[in-house]
Amino acid sequence: MATSLLGRDILDVQSLSNEEVKLIMDTAARFERAMDNGGRLMNMAGKTLATLFFEPSTRTRLSFETAMLRLGGSVISVADGGGSSSAKKGETVYDTGKMIESYADVAVIRHPVTGSAAELAAGSCKPVINGGDGAGQHPTQALLDLYTIIKEKGQVEGQTICLAGDLKNGRTVHSGAALLARMGVKFVFTAPEALAMPEPITESLRKDGVSVEIIPDLDEAVAKSDVLYMTRIQKERFTDPAEYERLKGSYEVTMQTVKNAKPGLTIMHPLPRVTEIKTEVDEYAGAAYFRQAANGVPVRMALLSLVCGCE
Ligand code: NCD
Repeated sequence: MATSLLGRDILDVQSLSNEEVKLIMDTAARFERAMDNGGRLMNMAGKTLATLFFEPSTRTRLSFETAMLRLGGSVISVADGGGSSSAKKGETVYDTGKMIESYADVAVIRHPVTGSAAELAAGSCKPVINGGDGAGQHPTQALLDLYTIIKEKGQVEGQTICLAGDLKNGRTVHSGAALLARMGVKFVFTAPEALAMPEPITESLRKDGVSVEIIPDLDEAVAKSDVLYMTRIQKERFTDPAEYERLKGSYEVTMQTVKNAKPGLTIMHPLPRVTEIKTEVDEYAGAAYFRQAANGVPVRMALLSLVCGCE
């Protein structure tokens, strides 16, 4: 049965209704169970996914490609768009969209410029999924983060979520805040002053009646939170290298942080981590970041199949 997601571009979280988000969660859970039962899925047989990556990626590209292959589909890929594609010759993202619509049934793009996924979508009549556009949005990460919170905590409503690290430049927290806000969570924002959540985002959350506390001290923040969502200081978005050097070590989650936290704290991170979570924390039962990365596969299977009508 065709759903409202058939043929849709997934460019941000705002354009997904709560019903559509639920459909994505339920479809992901169904695919996850099917994979756990060793089922061979052929939903996307005969379909092709194009992955167009103009910025580094490990998880997003590989999990999209894995998702497509696990659904019996094929993948074509530009893994180093900045260096190996015609972008280097000056081709616009719009023109790339015009090409890709005749090569693939669905495309995922990551690009350093905010708005470039929308530009690809303007060129292509096939669905385009935003795999991260500059400091803008990363909607599929937000969806897998939601899926992870539901799995780890049983429910998302009522949880206090601490978003920590580079809230200014991190696209995962921009998409995540917008999506989780609709699910009845409370927020704690933990960032150095220079990397605070952009004011329009915080204001719009508060205007919608969402509780947001700004607590720059990590220990104080985790004492009140059910989930710590830690992020990397986004080096590539800094124009002044000295400013990055000043801020890069702002936070470090250690076992001492866990001891100071509310019992049962779940720790998430979109990865890659640099120094902000010590490896000693990996042994902690609530360290969910590698499980979170694994959840990217069923969630992206759900997205690919729903926009192509193959669910
Ligand atoms: C994130 C991204 O690219 O925005 N990575 C990811 O997709 N898991 C986070 C980051 O790079 O810090």
